[in-house]
Amino acid sequence: MKKVLMVCLGNICRSPLAEGILKSKVNTSKIFVDSAGTAAYHIGNLPDERSIEVAKKYGIDITNQKARKFTVKDFDTFDFIYAMDKSNYENILMLARNTNDKEKVQLILNEIDADKNASVPDPYYGGNQGFEDVYKMLEQACERIENKLA
Ligand code: 4NP
Repeated sequence: MKKVLMVCLGNICRSPLAEGILKSKVNTSKIFVDSAGTAAYHIGNLPDERSIEVAKKYGIDITNQKARKFTVKDFDTFDFIYAMDKSNYENILMLARNTNDKEKVQLILNEIDADKNASVPDPYYGGNQGFEDVYKMLEQACERIENKLA
């Protein structure tokens, strides 16, 4: 079973969408998908209402998710760890114990544009359009990930 972890800061806006989108594309009995945040602010919370709404608009229910914090154990559990932005990426790498851990971590948008090192913008302080934009980027990236894992 391949295991994929989506990581953002709060685990309430971006990574829950990435988790929901990838789950909608793969056989979840063969590929395990989860998400986490590098910060502890929202542990136990549902995804942000605006993420729930944009996912619902595209037929995906993410209301079964609950925020949790990324832990060093996630390096043992997961094969692929996707960071939404550069800050998340650096925070995850700081916890890596060895090169094997480090090699699991990638910026998710590099699946679309390999060397661009682009970030999925944090939509938390913006409006609904930000969530729509994030959804579209993650939809494209998850399509690539699905092809890669198949
Ligand atoms: P996320 O968005 O990292 O995509 O879940 C954020 C959620 C909460 C906060 C920042 C970003 N916050 O500062 O509480």
